[in-house]
Amino acid sequence: MNSPRLEGVRLNAPAYVKHQRLLDWVARMAALTQAQDVYWCDGSQGEYDRLCQQLVEAGTFKRLNPALRPNSYLALSDPSDVARVEDRTFICSARKDDAGPTNNWVDPKEMRALLETGDNALFRGCMRGRTMYVVPFSMGPLGSHISHIGVELTDSAYVAVSMRIMTRMGRQVFEVLGADGDFVPCMHTVGAPLAAGQKDVAWPCNKTKYIVHYPETREIWSYGSGYGGNALLGKKCFALRIASKMGHEQGWLAEHMLILGVTSPAGKKYHVAAAFPSACGKTNFSMLVPPKVFDGWKVTTIGDDIAWIKPGKDGRLHAINPESGYFGVAPGTNYKTNPNCMDSLKRDVIFTNVALTDDGDVWWEGMTDEPPAHLIDWRGLDWTPAIAKETGAKAAHPNSRFTIAATNNPVLDPEWDSTTGYPIDAFVFGGRRSTTVPLVTEARSWAEGVYMAATMGSETTAAAAGAQGVVRRDPFAMLPFMGYHMGDHFEHWLAMGAKLQAAGVPQPHIFCVNWFRKGADGKFVWPGYGENMRVLKWMLERIEGRASGVEHLFGISPRYEDITWDGLSFTREQFHSVMSIERADWQLELELHGELFDQLSARLPQQLLSTKAQIERKLAA
Ligand code: GTP
Ligand code: SPV
Ligand code: MN
Repeated sequence: MNSPRLEGVRLNAPAYVKHQRLLDWVARMAALTQAQDVYWCDGSQGEYDRLCQQLVEAGTFKRLNPALRPNSYLALSDPSDVARVEDRTFICSARKDDAGPTNNWVDPKEMRALLETGDNALFRGCMRGRTMYVVPFSMGPLGSHISHIGVELTDSAYVAVSMRIMTRMGRQVFEVLGADGDFVPCMHTVGAPLAAGQKDVAWPCNKTKYIVHYPETREIWSYGSGYGGNALLGKKCFALRIASKMGHEQGWLAEHMLILGVTSPAGKKYHVAAAFPSACGKTNFSMLVPPKVFDGWKVTTIGDDIAWIKPGKDGRLHAINPESGYFGVAPGTNYKTNPNCMDSLKRDVIFTNVALTDDGDVWWEGMTDEPPAHLIDWRGLDWTPAIAKETGAKAAHPNSRFTIAATNNPVLDPEWDSTTGYPIDAFVFGGRRSTTVPLVTEARSWAEGVYMAATMGSETTAAAAGAQGVVRRDPFAMLPFMGYHMGDHFEHWLAMGAKLQAAGVPQPHIFCVNWFRKGADGKFVWPGYGENMRVLKWMLERIEGRASGVEHLFGISPRYEDITWDGLSFTREQFHSVMSIERADWQLELELHGELFDQLSARLPQQLLSTKAQIERKLAA
């Protein structure tokens, strides 16, 4: 391995950085990448505004009409760089067995040669002609015992400004780090070095992409993409993949879950954490507006994508949201489906891959019933309803997103920033299934709940590159985000439940939901969104022991009369069509559970096999 050459790269470290190991690492990376310049982000508003202006000048950002969308920008990505790339995502544990069969694995020695140490290593010289931004961030409130620190080095100013919204980013982080605090090094490049005099493009990236994690040494290396979870490394890479491994070792959980507070008219507050796969409704559920007839009920958002869950002093499971912003799906968002989200988007937004209106605002499919007469679509091309009809072109990319601070959210929970977190009353798991899975079921035991989570299936969405609408197993909604063996994760959940039980602490109830069952006409039968409150209320009544339900092979479900229907016309027949359990469907479903269990057999907890056998017996009866 060549020793890094430092000549020519000035480190520019501010005097307040006292952490020698960090300084050495930044110097090594600057030498490896041959960055033209090193810039240390302080996280200030002035810096944010300056970098945004720089992105406007570079053509990456377009400033939106300040009268319509103050302090907001639109970025259009390269058409090849629009979503997470799961087949390019690697968990490089020392042993293949520890990554498990659901992850891509490459021997870490081989991967390091490819990325950093080999003669033609991808990171060698990858930042030539570009600035390397040093982005210090805390996942979780600064200084909380639940929080962890990361430092991302990136050659993308878009990533730097996005990280300021999505995490607690800036100078304060160095105070927490001190001279020798722990941090997760997050190395990121778009993989597009510039030769002297070469003109840059608006969205630099590389056809070759690697999203790499070394779970044992807690390192992230990301090459070639500037988009979302591929590039904002605090999110999926750190807060889920690396953190899930940390949690397994240290007795806590990192989950792909929203966290909401729900307060009853009597003033009792509950906390619910819900895991739905990507683009399956977490942001929407976390900002839910209860229907009018639910007078006195209030839902507040704690998090919309990720939960870190640790036993608190009282022994119960407490959750925090490690993020401080939302990177949310735009299409489908409107004043009917999610008014709180629309209000959150009024100002201070970075939009990516939505369409531009003629008056300098944004639009996406589903924002209004009638599309505007003319738009510039996400690829920068003219778009009209007639063109769309003829070519099928979408104005906004299906995975187009907004980036906003949590503090934009009008229903942000007043204590969302709590350093100790919230005790969780219920866990909810839900996939996107047009058939088979009922609207809601409750697990009869912790083990049955873990079974429901482990065997969850969902139709794939535009959040990841690749085929869409294909049912796949997505255990815990964590298939693309697991930093260790999936079977070990199942065992970890069973053990966490057993620990609660042994301590005499009530276990959170576990529910399985499906908002997405379709009728013969191909349309969603359940109205969803705010109406999901009706299901949430039944769950809370179950926790209180006040609601009844019927037992079936897959838990307990409400009867028609167990749900509050005031203000909604939803017939018994419709209810039956979202609740029914068809024997043939479930025979097939259990075969698919079996395939997953076979795949994970080397580390599959016995308890899940016996739960499966129980369900099979009920199905046969
Ligand atoms: P990620 O950010 O990818 O993790 O997605 P998410 O789980 O936060 O999903 P989000 O709430 O952004 O919703 C994704 C898509 O599903 C949007 O187009 C929503 O309009 C749609 N959606 C959300 N909730 C519901 C629902 O209850 N019913 C129906 N039919 N669609 C929904
Ligand atoms: C997801 O895909 O689950 C997201 C978007 O939340 S990304 O940050 O790109 O992973
Ligand atoms: Mn997500």
